[in-house]
Amino acid sequence: MSAAPVLEAQALTRHYQVRRGLFAGSATLRAVDGVSFSLQPGNTLAVVGESGCGKSTLARLVTLIEPPTAGSLVIVGEAVRPGDAAQARSLRSTVQMVFQDPYGSLNPRKKVGAILEEPLVINTDQSAAERRERGRAMLARVGLRPEHYDRYPHMFSGGQRQRIAIARALILEPRIVVADEPVSALDVSIQAQVLNLLMDLQQEMGVAYLFISHGLSVVELISDEVLVMYLGRTAEQGPKEQVFRNPRHPYTRALLASTPFVDPTRRAERVVLSGELPSPLDPPSGCAFHRRCPLATDRCAAERPELREQDGRMVACHHVL
Ligand SMILES: Nc1ncnc2c1ncn2[C@@H]1O[C@H](COP(=O)(O)OP(=O)(O)OP(=O)(O)O)[C@@H](O)[C@H]1O
Ligand SMILES: [Mg+2]
Repeated sequence: MSAAPVLEAQALTRHYQVRRGLFAGSATLRAVDGVSFSLQPGNTLAVVGESGCGKSTLARLVTLIEPPTAGSLVIVGEAVRPGDAAQARSLRSTVQMVFQDPYGSLNPRKKVGAILEEPLVINTDQSAAERRERGRAMLARVGLRPEHYDRYPHMFSGGQRQRIAIARALILEPRIVVADEPVSALDVSIQAQVLNLLMDLQQEMGVAYLFISHGLSVVELISDEVLVMYLGRTAEQGPKEQVFRNPRHPYTRALLASTPFVDPTRRAERVVLSGELPSPLDPPSGCAFHRRCPLATDRCAAERPELREQDGRMVACHHVL
């Protein structure tokens, strides 16, 4: 844990101005609101939370697809300068992305070989022969066959396409891969294969993952650290063992309780996640979780809890002492 982090996010924030309706004025949607974390080389940080809590927005900030509205990012020791296109280009080989949808993320008009070689064409001056050799090696590495090189994406299953997307993301040997729900669209039987592949590749290449998931079940296997998000903010974050074995935030507890685990000792506590997820355009006062929280008191509606260290992790809850 003493190595320098490959990625540091400090109070990372992304707000959007959106119109409430045809005749209403604009309002601020706080998609990501002051999230901080650091990612160690070769480690996996899982970002977990319900739909709309800001996970994909966070992924777009970290991969420099969009600039933050506030906060800062340091990637492999280099402070990111928002709007600096040259820097963003040079960091592209350091931070790569795998998207959820293995159908939409691969260009249907290009053969697999061309898809794999594209990052090499853009970011290196390798010859066509070198690129082809590298592409074929990467294809083999993700468990596909040489003849797949000249096929089109539609000829593959969802799991195979995700292998292609992973090969493309890793071909530049990035230090960081941001994977936004990389297995959510796949059959459960295929999910484990793709997760195992990601872990094997991490072992071999030392790449760090920011692994995004709406559920906790896939995260337990792959993560070192877990960050639980609720409406753009961090509810709880810390080492996987702490968060899974002894969750402290009522939201983390509810998420865990609603997760199907094989381990029967996990079924002891039942906290039901009741009530609707509030709109991020109109978040509740105080603690954003208070209307769904079994522990909520008047203080929770009035005062937003700050993240504090507790039992070896950070928690934002007035009732965790
Ligand atoms: N470009 C945008 N303009 C306005 N609002 C946006 C924009 N992008 C995202 N949002 C809003 O920000 C919030 C967070 O969205 P985001 O896609 O990051 O959530 P998510 O956690 O990835 O959800 P899901 O699990 O459904 O993928 C949502 O309320 C979304 O509607
Ligand atoms: Mg998303």
